[in-house]
Amino acid sequence: SEIGGMYPAHLLISQDELTAMVQRLGKQITEDYCGKQILLVSILKGSFIFCSDLVRAIDLPTTVEFMACSSYGGGTSSSGKVKIIKDLDCDIKDKHVILVEDIVDTGLTLSKLKEVLSLRHPASLKICTAFDKPVKRKVELHPEYVGIEVPDEFIIGYGLDYQNYYRNLSEIYAARPVEN
Ligand code: PRP
Ligand code: MN
Ligand code: MG
Repeated sequence: SEIGGMYPAHLLISQDELTAMVQRLGKQITEDYCGKQILLVSILKGSFIFCSDLVRAIDLPTTVEFMACSSYGGGTSSSGKVKIIKDLDCDIKDKHVILVEDIVDTGLTLSKLKEVLSLRHPASLKICTAFDKPVKRKVELHPEYVGIEVPDEFIIGYGLDYQNYYRNLSEIYAARPVEN
């Protein structure tokens, strides 16, 4: 099905691969933070599906809070301007914070968020992203937890959108323009 001239052209990452990725990250985080309590900060809107899976793969006392951020608007490339649409409504001082993202592309969103949140003196601040597109990086940013590295394609599904649609696809597809 087509939306705004783009459609899910071919499957890139299957549901089984997504499940395995989430289980691996959840286990790693559970080991790394053993004996601690953690706070997952889900960066809306893209990360809501990944975060809902990840939190259930973590076996630690865990809380989840939300922050909304946007850099893409409706297009297929980052505007470079990161807007905080909704800030956290909790204090993160002395907390072990993990920022949960669907994808790191230019790195602008997360480098801005890291800068803003580190001023609030968390006990620790790390990044967990489902997907990483390192070839598109504009600023140096190395997420501590990476699910799957992806090629330079515009991908949709599992929370990732085109014009806010396609987040509900269960698997990851490469989006392509419809040809006439
Ligand atoms: C996308 C994605 C990340 C960010 C990554 O969000 O969900 O948050 O862009 O790109 P960057 O590394 O180049 O900053 P988007 O702006 O599309 O908002 P959304 O999550 O509401 O879809
Ligand atoms: Mn996002
Ligand atoms: Mg988006």
